[in-house]
Amino acid sequence: VFAHVVKAPEDPILGVTIAYNKDPSPVKLNLGVGAYRTEEGKPLVLNVVKRAELQLVNNRSRVKEYLPITGLAEFNKLSAKLIFGDDSPAIRENRVTTVQCLSGTGSLRVGAEFLARHYYQRTIYIPQPTWGNHPKVFTLAGLSVKTYCYYDPTTRGLNIQGLLDDLGSAPPGAIVLLHACAHNPTGVDPTLEQWETIRQLIRSKGLLPFFDSAYQGFASGGLDADAQSVRMFVTDGGECLVAQSYAKNMGLYGERVGALSIVCGTADVASRVESQLKLVIRPMYSNPPIHGASIVATILRDRNMFNEWTVDLKAMADRIISMRQKLFEALRGRGIPGDWSHIIKQIGMFTYTGLNSKQVAFMTKEFHIYMTSDGRISMAGLNSKTVPHLADAIHAAVKL
Ligand code: LMR
Repeated sequence: VFAHVVKAPEDPILGVTIAYNKDPSPVKLNLGVGAYRTEEGKPLVLNVVKRAELQLVNNRSRVKEYLPITGLAEFNKLSAKLIFGDDSPAIRENRVTTVQCLSGTGSLRVGAEFLARHYYQRTIYIPQPTWGNHPKVFTLAGLSVKTYCYYDPTTRGLNIQGLLDDLGSAPPGAIVLLHACAHNPTGVDPTLEQWETIRQLIRSKGLLPFFDSAYQGFASGGLDADAQSVRMFVTDGGECLVAQSYAKNMGLYGERVGALSIVCGTADVASRVESQLKLVIRPMYSNPPIHGASIVATILRDRNMFNEWTVDLKAMADRIISMRQKLFEALRGRGIPGDWSHIIKQIGMFTYTGLNSKQVAFMTKEFHIYMTSDGRISMAGLNSKTVPHLADAIHAAVKL
């Protein structure tokens, strides 16, 4: 009965790792998925995460009962504080409902399912370009996806006028997906002044902001600084949604730990919204897993552990910045034509190189360098030893 089923293509991002794993070359390099690697090219479990896990294991009274549908209450409270700030008026007024979800993707999906059922406007505007999974998540949830201008390939920066024009002509109430910081894939963020202009437009048109916050702490190295965009939209008293992920900033990729917060107009609305979120979650996966959320709660509740985390986070962000500098210098050193300063200007985990899909395919075939076909490279996958290999590959590819 399944004989008609056609083979689906691999995922454009996760499929890069599958291809990389099959390559026997000793010089192969995976710059596809956004996952942190050490200077030795190894995955990293943060020390503070190991300490938190030890505490959890040694706690004999710990049980493995089901969490509530909304997840671990303390994790939800601490996650809301992390993104909205300790002194957030919306939290103080109990206008925020936060539910634990399966990392960023799960949080986006639960939020989208809720909007498709309970929000009058079904159109969501996503930036062009954006993370490849965004359109799929929103379409499958029943929303209709449109794009707004974001990246300007000529300046390799933000197309702020295009963005304002597109959002300015969006229908009233349309949902707008915004990357809280460290835009994926471009590494280009609005300045605070540009955020303020975007905020004014969104509020004046009654659009609904839906933030994807997957890189808090990775853009500027500061957790509060990276939450500024979101907080501007909360202090103005309006509504918004925020999907948080702890995959990158705590290195909890496979633990699938994240949160969805919906900031509402009143505490009463927030509690009704939460009751409906439970109806979205229960038939999807019943309730979320306990381990990752317990790690996060252990770290966020303890001042020492929290401070240790911020140091680890800054070290990861700084290593990525140093890779940007090294790659930029290696390209300049080879006299490769073109202005490569965007490599050091862009922020977060990725560089949007400007290489086209033909050049990417060439680099994979000839140099065993794996990256997404849009020319995005995960800077976190580079180290001092591999920079020259990448620079040589780019040197050869630009001649095509
Ligand atoms: C990425 O963009 O590489 C990450 O967000 C990982 C993923 O799931 O795509």
